[in-house]
Amino acid sequence: MSGAGTALLRARGLRKDYGKGEGLVRAVDEVDLDVATGETLAVMGPSGCGKSTLLHLLGGLDRPSAGELWLNDRRTDRLSERALAGLRRQEIGFVFQAFHLMDELTARENIELPALLAGRSPREARRRALALLDQVSLADRANHLPSALSGGQRQRVAIARALINDPL
Ligand SMILES: Nc1ncnc2c1ncn2[C@@H]1O[C@H](COP(=O)(O)OP(=O)(O)O)[C@@H](O)[C@H]1O
Ligand SMILES: [Mg+2]
Repeated sequence: MSGAGTALLRARGLRKDYGKGEGLVRAVDEVDLDVATGETLAVMGPSGCGKSTLLHLLGGLDRPSAGELWLNDRRTDRLSERALAGLRRQEIGFVFQAFHLMDELTARENIELPALLAGRSPREARRRALALLDQVSLADRANHLPSALSGGQRQRVAIARALINDPL
């Protein structure tokens, strides 16, 4: 197959198996998917149907057992761990159900972290983090630890963190 055409994200025959033999679970079974730039997509289904597994595959957090995956015309299902980590850092923004904020870092520091890992200067990382904190209406919580934030506030910090490297 040639490139991904106009789709920002394209999956073909995507599959994920856990376990083997009697215990084999096919969590994702031959998924074909095209997502356009700017498109909003909700994956819905009962608990255990494979939503999280699918999102982990699409986000490069896990590898498919079979199938092909493209992000922005780039084949991603066969990238090395290192290349995949770079892709997650530079191109993708994750907001996890369980937040996964760093407990010992403040809200601002949590948001800055991906920018620092991507090589931005501390000054630039701070500037962007403060702007994002303002956008999610948490400017007055910049120096709070996650333990001193409500669930919704933590989620907003996680959203700001997901956006700091300008994902696709
Ligand atoms: N690491 C794993 N090892 C074995 N089975 C797993 C693993 N993760 C998920 N599963 C199984 O795969 C199926 C899909 O799980 P998941 O994607 O988390 O579902 P959802 O997010 O839709 O609730 C479930 O039946 C679950 O038990
Ligand atoms: Mg889930």
